Amino acid sequence: MPKSIAIDGPAGAGKSTIAKKVSANLGFIYLDTGAMYRTVALKAINEGVDTKSQNDVEKIVENIDITISHENNTQKIFLDGVDVSEAIRTPEVSAGASNVAVFKEVRLKLVDLQRKIASDKNVVMDGRDIGSYVLPNADLKIFLTATVDERARRRYEELLQKGQKVDFEEVKADMIIRDNNDSSRTFAPLVKAEDAIEVDSTSMTIDEVVEKIMYYYLEAG
Ligand code: C5P
Repeated sequence: MPKSIAIDGPAGAGKSTIAKKVSANLGFIYLDTGAMYRTVALKAINEGVDTKSQNDVEKIVENIDITISHENNTQKIFLDGVDVSEAIRTPEVSAGASNVAVFKEVRLKLVDLQRKIASDKNVVMDGRDIGSYVLPNADLKIFLTATVDERARRRYEELLQKGQKVDFEEVKADMIIRDNNDSSRTFAPLVKAEDAIEVDSTSMTIDEVVEKIMYYYLEAG
């Protein structure tokens, strides 16, 4: 059986940074499931479809072609054959992703892809519902949190570094909306799995969080 580590939590908690480092340490692949929801949203936006329209979004997802490659511990995501790894990192796509993620048909299709990848490779998978729904038998489940101010600050810095023009209060407000959306949807919401270990990263460095997760993993194995 391949090994798996699930890292869930709200936006900006540091999941992807941490998951990348843990996967590199262990020689596992890193699967960023948020990128898949973002890719569905990008397709909707490109086609002029409202990301809140269930019918239209479900049509888009029926024959969407999402593929993922992993080279040098970096995930690339392709939409209909085109590399969209950067195009999905805008505030508009973030908000759209949280809208399309509410629809069950969207989730079922993406979860299927996520489980297929985990069925034959050792993975560190990050998302919102990995421990609670996608991989209920994961070898280790982490629920990574931080205060909303700290999460907004991190996301703000990240967007600034990418050269995007952003306003801190706007980033924070978008994050709160997204968290509410993710926690309140009925199908596979953002929730801490019963057997997940909660790690609050507010005043921890990246390396401290990685070290803690490595410790839990080695202890569990
Ligand atoms: O992690 P990231 O911020 O890239 O995720 C974008 C959005 O995709 C989240 O706000 C959430 O709505 C959705 N998502 C989800 N389930 C996952 C991963 C992401 O619903 N496993």
